[in-house]
Amino acid sequence: MSALDRAALNEIVAQVRAAAKSRDILPALIERLAARELSAGIAPREAVKRVKRQLHQSGGAYFAGKPAYARWLTALEAADPDARPAELARQFTIHRSMAERAGSLEAYYAGLFAGIEAPSCILDLACGLNPLGRPWMPVQPARYRACDIYLDMLDFVARASVLSGYGVETFAHDLAAGAPDEVGADVVLALKTLPCLDQIEPGAGARLVAGLAARHVIVTYPLLSLGGRQKGMEANYRRSFEGVARASGRQVSALTLPGELGFRLSR
Ligand SMILES: C[S@@+](CC[C@H](N)C(=O)[O-])C[C@H]1O[C@@H](n2cnc3c(N)ncnc32)[C@H](O)[C@@H]1O
Repeated sequence: MSALDRAALNEIVAQVRAAAKSRDILPALIERLAARELSAGIAPREAVKRVKRQLHQSGGAYFAGKPAYARWLTALEAADPDARPAELARQFTIHRSMAERAGSLEAYYAGLFAGIEAPSCILDLACGLNPLGRPWMPVQPARYRACDIYLDMLDFVARASVLSGYGVETFAHDLAAGAPDEVGADVVLALKTLPCLDQIEPGAGARLVAGLAARHVIVTYPLLSLGGRQKGMEANYRRSFEGVARASGRQVSALTLPGELGFRLSR
């Protein structure tokens, strides 16, 4: 990259990061999206708009409001330890994926982990606030690792999970660039995530799953759009999953989940 391009790239990244909504997003992802726009010949002003739009589609759109992480941690600390899971459940509905599951957490996680016995390490990819559902999960591994692109959310998940008694190790990672180190995970979760990755980089979801080493990979898809419409999503995602399954070469089992389309891919 020429010095001129590098300067333009830095300027686009700085402008995107100046917006409150993208300040806490992993800078490496912003830089990659900006570099893609520049190399497609998009002018810097327009590139800033496009990168912001992409970040909203991939992450920002899933927040139902502005998270109050500091206040929530204070509330968790103040709550009696037995009351902390209920406090968490009030907080995690800020993320729309968790809000959709909130009424059926036990049934959801029972369906998600059906057929999985005593995993020692779970890796939750593009986790959102899902790791905070640990108190309702029927399996309790020694390690639960989780990644996403929101640095403030990952910090909140790490702290809140310790307060709830179900600790989670979090780290930032851009999955569109490839899988993170699995560090001995026997179960990998990719919940409602592959469509987000495909939006950033067509085919990224299937490539990610095909490259995973864990014994089980659990993949889910939404059945409703964020606006609550069906729009033929189930048929589309079933078709898209066929490609993911083929590329992975794994054995497929369908899962029964309230409100989501889900599959377990096993070796
Ligand atoms: C539909 S939400 C699903 C969240 C969570 N898996 C769940 O089911 O509750 C999609 C998540 O993907 C994350 N995400 C989007 N692009 C990503 C990327 N390139 N790498 C890692 N995570 C990403 C978003 O921040 C968001 O938390």
